[in-house]
Amino acid sequence: MRKNIVAGNWKMNTTLQEGVGLAKDVNEALGKVNAACDVIICVPFTHLASVNAVIDSSKLGLGAENCADHKSGAYTGEVSASMVASTGATYVILGHSERRQYYGETAETLKEKVALAFENNLTPIFCIGEVLEQRENGTYFDVVKAQIVDALFHLSAEDFSKLILAYEPVWAIGTGKTATDDQAQEMHAFIRGVIAEKYGKEVADNTSILYGGSCKPSNARAIFAKPDVDGGLIGGAALEAESFMGIVTAFN
Ligand code: PGA
Repeated sequence: MRKNIVAGNWKMNTTLQEGVGLAKDVNEALGKVNAACDVIICVPFTHLASVNAVIDSSKLGLGAENCADHKSGAYTGEVSASMVASTGATYVILGHSERRQYYGETAETLKEKVALAFENNLTPIFCIGEVLEQRENGTYFDVVKAQIVDALFHLSAEDFSKLILAYEPVWAIGTGKTATDDQAQEMHAFIRGVIAEKYGKEVADNTSILYGGSCKPSNARAIFAKPDVDGGLIGGAALEAESFMGIVTAFN
C-alpha cells in the first residue's frame, strides 16, 4: 500500500547555519513522536551535506529542491543529480511550479531530470498543478493530466512506481489560500484515475500523491483525511519545526 508522506520544501530560505539549526530541531522533535508517516526535508543545495550530517536518516529523509538536466560538464552554476546524491540526499523535488514559471522548465527538461534522478537513485517528488486562470476557466483537469502524460508517461511501470507526486494548485502556493479538502480529493482521485488508465490499478493505488499549497497545522488533518491525499509538500509552514511537526502529527 502507498505511504503517507510529509515533505518540507524550504525553497530559497535560511542561511546554512539557520538551516542546520532547523534540521536539528526537526530531527529532535521526530525523536519524541512516533510519526505515522514518512518525513522528508528538501533543502537548498548548499545545505545538503551539512544537514545530512546532523539528521537520523532512518527517521528523516533528505532531498534537494531541483537538479540539473545534464549529467555533468560546462553548465556553470548548475548542480547535477550525482552531486545531490553524493551529499547523502535521496530525494529531489522536480517540476515545482516556481521552476516551471521562473526558470522555464518544460516537460522535455523534466524528462531529462527524472531520468538522471533515477540513475542516481534519487526519488523524484514530481510537482503538477494548475494556475488560477486554468482553475477558473475549467481546464484544470486537462492541464494536470497533460503535465503527467507529457513528462512521465514514457516511463516503465517499474520506474513510474518509484515516483512521489505532489499536486500543488499554483493559486494556493504561498498565498494563504488553500484548496478545500474536497477540491484536493477531487483532483487527487482524478490523478489516480489517469495513472490507473496507463499503468493499471495496482500502480495507481501504490502511488503517493501529496497535496501542496498553504498547508498548515490547522488544515492538514482535514486534507490528509481524504482517501486519495497521502500527505503534503509544505513550504512556508516547514520553516519552523513546531508548525512542520504540527503537520507531521496530523497523521497520528
Ligand atoms: P506553501 O508552499 O506551503 O508555502 O504554499 C508549498 C510549495 O510550494 O511546495
